[in-house]
Amino acid sequence: MASTVVIGLQWGDEGKGKIVDYLAEQADMVVRYQGGQNAGHTVVVAGKKSVFHLLPSGVLHGKKCLMGNGMVIDPVGLWEEIETSGIDRQVLEKTLYISDRAHMIFPYHKQSDAGEHGQKIGTTGKGIGPAYVDKVNRTGSVFGEIRNLLSLKDKIRSRCSAEGCDSTMVDEYLGKLDVCAGWFASRLVNGAYEVNKAYDQDDSIILEGAQGTWLDIDHGTYPFVTSSNTTIGGACTGSGLPAKKIDRVIGIVKAYTTRVGAGKHPTELTDDLGEYIRKRGNEFGATTGRPRRVGWLDLLVVRQAAVINGADEIALMKLDVLDELDEIKVATHYMLAGQRIDVFPSDMDELERSTPAYETFSGWKQSTVGLTRYEQLPDKAKEYINFIEKQVGIPVTMISTGPGREETIRRK
Ligand code: GDP
Ligand code: IMO
Ligand code: MG
Repeated sequence: MASTVVIGLQWGDEGKGKIVDYLAEQADMVVRYQGGQNAGHTVVVAGKKSVFHLLPSGVLHGKKCLMGNGMVIDPVGLWEEIETSGIDRQVLEKTLYISDRAHMIFPYHKQSDAGEHGQKIGTTGKGIGPAYVDKVNRTGSVFGEIRNLLSLKDKIRSRCSAEGCDSTMVDEYLGKLDVCAGWFASRLVNGAYEVNKAYDQDDSIILEGAQGTWLDIDHGTYPFVTSSNTTIGGACTGSGLPAKKIDRVIGIVKAYTTRVGAGKHPTELTDDLGEYIRKRGNEFGATTGRPRRVGWLDLLVVRQAAVINGADEIALMKLDVLDELDEIKVATHYMLAGQRIDVFPSDMDELERSTPAYETFSGWKQSTVGLTRYEQLPDKAKEYINFIEKQVGIPVTMISTGPGREETIRRK
């Protein structure tokens, strides 16, 4: 298969980074197609943890990495991520490419995101929403403008001043931009041309989604969403690869549900059990460090996300986190005013008033940590997986049993 899209089927942090890194070994190119530093994708190789916010998660394999036109990128933030990644810049000169049509994030976007509205949504404060507002309003800056640094700096200075940014902070920012702009100018490409060329010459391409389906600006739990299309259409518009060149879609599903920021989380556990799962699963944001809101697996969430994205298969993540539980619950449907609901509501008022109905499984009470073969799993864990497959109607082809690259079961 030539192209594979990796998409979260919940509210983000499903483990996309781990799977992209895992699959990247066999790939030629990895493309990030939307979002920006709001993402935090964790990859653990030989016990060493890397968190990528902007760099595609194929970067550790030394594969060609493209930051697509659908992204919003703070150049100074990207420079700092590269500096702290420990990856040699000379290596990146052979592997990292940036679409000249990606949009840029500047200090005033971050300042605006830190305001009352961003706080209400519980954003990551990385300037994502305000940068996409500028893009849609046709007042943004594309990455290609970095070729003409003097006029770009004038533009940043005047926008920041109009938005009341501290001038010392802006000067400091522009000083940092001076250091990295030339290097970034050398990384610019026509992203849509490159990704199609790669596909047409039979390269294997991974398109790496950020966030998750229910944070999508169109399909998510609006207004508690991010400002981009995190779902399958975003993979096409954000990379330039047309829909008919998407060959495989892998839905990433955590074995339970987490959410960061505000908005409805129907199966949330606010008790000691939730606290236990948060600790065992280390559910603290990879970008902001905020505790993630933990709850049971919600199959309405996963089923409808699989439909919206046309997911072919599921990678089930963090199964090991459930190892010690006596009982495991899974929401199979909701109830509203005595009526059964099987499809995740698009009406947020309906969602607000619904209560989840659960199927209860007895736990396997056995360690699955680090297992690499399906046969090694306890029968009760297999039952849990079979139930998910039946309910969603697509196979679970990968099961993750730990954060490490090797702690992965592959079934096909
Ligand atoms: P992403 O945003 O979808 O890439 O996911 P994050 O990196 O934000 O969050 C996933 C977290 O779970 C990271 O800390 C991973 O290292 C960790 N992780 C991934 N897969 C597993 C797994 O199977 N078991 C455990 N225990 N941790 C995992
Ligand atoms: P990855 O790619 C989880 C959430 C924020 C907030 C909402 C809007 O690591 O899965 P934004 O800063 O995008 O305007 O915030 O979306 N959010 C994420 N939650 N994982 C992410 O990314 C997220 N990116 C944004 O917490 O609720
Ligand atoms: Mg994350």
